[in-house]
Amino acid sequence: MTSRYHEVYSGWQQDPEGFWAKAAAEIDWFSPWEKVFDAKAGVYGRWFPGATCNTCFNAVDRHVEGGRKDQPALIHDSPISGRKKSFTYGELKDEVSALASVLKDFGVGKGDRVVIYMPMVPEAVFAMLACARIGAVHSVVFGGFAARELAARIDDAAPKAIISASCGLEPGRVVAYKPLLDEAIRLCAAKPEACLILQREEQRCDLAEGRDHDYAALVGAARSAGRAVDCEPVLATDPLYILYTSGTTGRPKGVVRDNGGHMVRLKWSMFNEFGIEPGETFWAASDVGWVVGHSYIVYAPLLHGCTTVLFEGKPVGTPDAGVFWRVIAEHNVAALFTAPTAFRAIRTADPDAELLAPHDLTGFRSLFLAGERADPDTVKWAEKTLGVPVIDHWWQTETGAPISQDPVGLGMLPVKYGSPGVPMPGYDVQVLDDAGDPVPAGTLGNVVVKLPLPPGGLPTLWNDDKRFRDAYLSEFPGYYKTADAGMLDEDGYLFIMARTDDIINVAGHRLSTGGMEEVVAEHPAVAECAVIGIADPLKGQVPCGFVVLHGKAQTDMGSVEQELIAMVRERIGPVAAFKKVVSVKRLPKTRSGKILRATMQKIADHREWTMPATIDDPSILDEISEALGKSDS
Ligand code: COA
Ligand code: AMP
Repeated sequence: MTSRYHEVYSGWQQDPEGFWAKAAAEIDWFSPWEKVFDAKAGVYGRWFPGATCNTCFNAVDRHVEGGRKDQPALIHDSPISGRKKSFTYGELKDEVSALASVLKDFGVGKGDRVVIYMPMVPEAVFAMLACARIGAVHSVVFGGFAARELAARIDDAAPKAIISASCGLEPGRVVAYKPLLDEAIRLCAAKPEACLILQREEQRCDLAEGRDHDYAALVGAARSAGRAVDCEPVLATDPLYILYTSGTTGRPKGVVRDNGGHMVRLKWSMFNEFGIEPGETFWAASDVGWVVGHSYIVYAPLLHGCTTVLFEGKPVGTPDAGVFWRVIAEHNVAALFTAPTAFRAIRTADPDAELLAPHDLTGFRSLFLAGERADPDTVKWAEKTLGVPVIDHWWQTETGAPISQDPVGLGMLPVKYGSPGVPMPGYDVQVLDDAGDPVPAGTLGNVVVKLPLPPGGLPTLWNDDKRFRDAYLSEFPGYYKTADAGMLDEDGYLFIMARTDDIINVAGHRLSTGGMEEVVAEHPAVAECAVIGIADPLKGQVPCGFVVLHGKAQTDMGSVEQELIAMVRERIGPVAAFKKVVSVKRLPKTRSGKILRATMQKIADHREWTMPATIDDPSILDEISEALGKSDS
């Protein structure tokens, strides 16, 4: 089939508002917009101002009313607990309505925030949709973050209520969530009025008198009483959620997502980009705590009337590297979306994919990879193993949907390995040098997007227009700075090579090395430190801390190292995977005192490097190589 991509993309270029107005016809609105786009509203403009709508209505109720009442909406498949459960759209509506009525009993209403700190259980999805139903703003916090990170998010969002669970399940261990939640609430100034706790049978927890409530008891009673809550009309421009993501300091950025534009963008993506029809099963093997989970476990598949899979397990070890094939076959998954690291893990455990043989994957059509650069070797292995197109696509928490990819529904373009495809409609992607001038095709530079961002792109950061401008819009006026470095080739394909800030991608998880440095620097034995991301064959990148110890502490590096690893795990969380610390005499710096992280990274990765012209003392780089050599041996 010839791709319609170029025709559709140029249609958008010629008439962006007409393009999105047409896409918006796929959504049920309570009342129409005054303008498709108001360039004068908000920081850089707002989509569909004046329109009223409800995201839960479009994701749930309209399918119940439109003939999908008995179709599975959500399948929870948890190899880690041995449980599987499916919910039809009708059942999903009952669960969500019951929870929405409980939230209302707590006084949660339009605009109030609700923090959700949950493992991969159906109740996490119900919680998101219940908030959407009553116009409350959810903020999901990933379960792998520790109490301090959770506290920082609670303080910023100031939620009226928190929905959490007694525990999460990781291979070989039960992660008690409740002590982390209690500690976070103790640490933060903005105390929630109520916490709704799901008791999981693997490990129950104590409930604090007055503050904590049992999820099953309250929601069960509301469900039995048939209590229902109508979908609250909200403005298209009202916030649906806040999702905190790593910024260049330890303070996370609260990415805001609106209701109207988000629905339009996600609904459009399901067929045009992912090639999925309503009624089919879509599986994003991510976590609801990340943007991929928000967009492609919860909202996009449900807005499109699909069946979505919520998977509580890992690609390997639950019980083995064949679990992805089992889930695809058992639930007739048409498309899987995951991070390349998951496929690297499967390939390492089962290089010849022997565990694939027992499973019938005839209904499986495509594999989508994102979250980190998809290395061509892994892409080719997945193509050969599965015999379906493997599509690398590039996006960010801030955009909520792909910026670039090979659009399956519009018809695929010739594949270029190492490239996450071409810009999607809505995205005028350009590459600029540091002075803000466009660079020729094939030249590396700063990847930016000409404003405005399309519907669904972040309109601002929570309560912080200034930080939004400073972090994303000021450096290249008129453009959104992605903070990725890369290039566009002569055919318009993008290549994303690295971040231009201190963010690293560990197993597809976005983390700030600056945040880790803040923790390491607090150790009394550490005089100075730098944390950088170094290449890792499984996780893509892992953090590595370089520390200069105070005189006396130098003899006790072993215990300092263990303490630093424990501190990062306790303050940021196990997901940081901070397990390597190298003791150095000095850190390499420029004459103006800037640490030469990029050069250190190249040395650690055994890549070619040149002596920076601005270096203060070149001999320090030899010391770094030597220290790394010692720590590897
Ligand atoms: N709650 C508590 N702890 C969690 C957690 C959660 N929700 N998620 C992860 N952790 C912990 C893990 O148990 C692990 O702890 P450990 O150091 O004690 O082993 C640590 O955080 C790191 O977890 P993870 O990044 O998942 O690494 P892993 O070594 O357990 O597994 C992979 C490696 C590749 C199998 C795994 O990273 C994976 O499945 N990745 C898929 C990619 C993905 O989901 N990306 C999201 C964006 S698309
Ligand atoms: P997150 O906000 O967690 O989705 O992380 C976004 C960052 O992950 C991007 O800015 C990129 O650095 C990286 N990223 C995501 N997808 C890709 C991809 N397909 N190729 C290269 N980098 C990617």
